[in-house]
Amino acid sequence: INKIGLIGAMNEEIELLIQAMTGVKETKKAGITYREGLFQGKEVVVCRSGVGKVNAAVCTQILIDQFGVNAVLFTGVAGALDPELNIGDIVISTACMQHDMDVRALGFPRGVIPYEEVSTFAADPELIKLADAASRELFDGRTKQGLVLSGDQFVASRELVAELFHDLGGSCTEMEGAAVAQVCSMNSVPFVVIRSMSDKADGSAHVNFAEFTKQASENSHRIIEHMVRSI
Ligand code: ADE
Repeated sequence: INKIGLIGAMNEEIELLIQAMTGVKETKKAGITYREGLFQGKEVVVCRSGVGKVNAAVCTQILIDQFGVNAVLFTGVAGALDPELNIGDIVISTACMQHDMDVRALGFPRGVIPYEEVSTFAADPELIKLADAASRELFDGRTKQGLVLSGDQFVASRELVAELFHDLGGSCTEMEGAAVAQVCSMNSVPFVVIRSMSDKADGSAHVNFAEFTKQASENSHRIIEHMVRSI
């Protein structure tokens, strides 16, 4: 790995990266600003994809094609699905799935992309290891590895949380990870998604999200910082 793509969906999720970068060169493509430079002594390209799977997919493909990144790390916040996870805790993706890919009417299980017969995109084992080591050092006992579920939906109901946790086995839910994962898999580029919990995707999610996104973004950022140093 000699050039790392670092993606966040929102300003809060990438502002600490931008502050810490040196020798920055900015390029705009498809409405997204790409910042090439050095972070922790490594060549990186930092960008804010914008929210949702389409934004994340376009951003990831451009990082690969135009900027030649050979690994992608996603940093940001998510809603916890696993009841053992608390606000501020960390989830490292073992794999990602689109929870809103739903072709059950034609007999495909929820999450499965028709005619491709796949639903989950596995994260890179080496990147998982690095993220896990960093997270355990910084947030001892507050880290889980698990399935990250993505959909173009802010989840804010206990019913949906129960479905996503019990039926699909998700640890947390957000709106970009599975798109990044799928594009990386299509291009054979290693990736991992790191998310800190801003809320529990329940009836209080909108309040918690507003209150805890900054702190959770910082938690995720610290893991990225630690990881990039050791890549
Ligand atoms: N990102 C942070 N919290 C979320 C939630 N509850 N649903 C979707 N994306 C999120």
